[in-house]
Amino acid sequence: MRGPVPYSIGGIRITLILAGTVAMVGAVYSGRGIHRVLSEDEGALSFGAGSAGPPRPPRGLFVAFEGGDGAGKSTQVRLLRAAVERAGHDATVTREPGGTQVGERIRDVVLDPRLLAMSDRTEALLYAAARAQHVDEVIRPALDKGHVVLCDRFVDSSIVYQGVARDLGEAPVAELNRWATAELLPDLVVVLDIDATEGLRRSGEEPDRLEAAGLAFHRTVNTAFRHRAGQDPQRYLVLDGTLPAEQLHARIRDEVLSRLSDADATTRALPPDDADEPDQQTPSPPT
Ligand code: TYD
Repeated sequence: MRGPVPYSIGGIRITLILAGTVAMVGAVYSGRGIHRVLSEDEGALSFGAGSAGPPRPPRGLFVAFEGGDGAGKSTQVRLLRAAVERAGHDATVTREPGGTQVGERIRDVVLDPRLLAMSDRTEALLYAAARAQHVDEVIRPALDKGHVVLCDRFVDSSIVYQGVARDLGEAPVAELNRWATAELLPDLVVVLDIDATEGLRRSGEEPDRLEAAGLAFHRTVNTAFRHRAGQDPQRYLVLDGTLPAEQLHARIRDEVLSRLSDADATTRALPPDDADEPDQQTPSPPT
């Protein structure tokens, strides 16, 4: 039987090992430094209506539809989808709460009119949980594929319904959602503004848990949507929800198609993705 293999470490080897260890420790610390700087930058991002939001996703366009109950969002989403597809783009249409199997289950709970004991914080967390799943499973993958994503309600609904109308505070609800969505914000938010009485009348006979919250609640919701939109007019398009559907559609379609053609022009003007990667095959010229 062979015994343990004897080995010896000479002076040069020790020097090399020490140098390697120092280099590794240095690398770990500088990596932490970079991470800390990045985290601080992330901390500076906010969902406040006046902020620019995180960098746009590399491809695709994210459009959210917002407004009080019965504002006519679903009709406009349907019309816009057809227009976007006619213009040659892929569209993903989705809604909140819902849009995924997990999200639709949460929707059943959060809108159930029998669950009157639900606390406001629970409500905010349920909407945020459904949204986290929705972003991971549907919205980001669609944007990454270059789709135009049309979403019936998104983060603004939570900030307005839970943050303002339920009085949980805009900042904490925005922060909760910033985490839930990993900082995804729509490129454009279309707000259909409608009087609360008219909206609730249009919503129909059997109110869900939120529709049953009363007229004052829904008036607060409408005012809060208008207020948020006023703080960031580049990202919000507020339209009178009582206008005829075709007229509203024409306005929304023009806005979205013009943003898409701007985005196309920017993409054409950019160098291809690998333009600044050094070509491994071509030796660099002598300097
Ligand atoms: P829904 O039937 O989809 O209503 P609408 O057609 O008006 O969008 O119900 C969604 C309800 O949930 C609606 O009353 C708004 C409310 N809601 C919130 O309170 N917070 C949220 O984050 C979202 C997405 C919706």
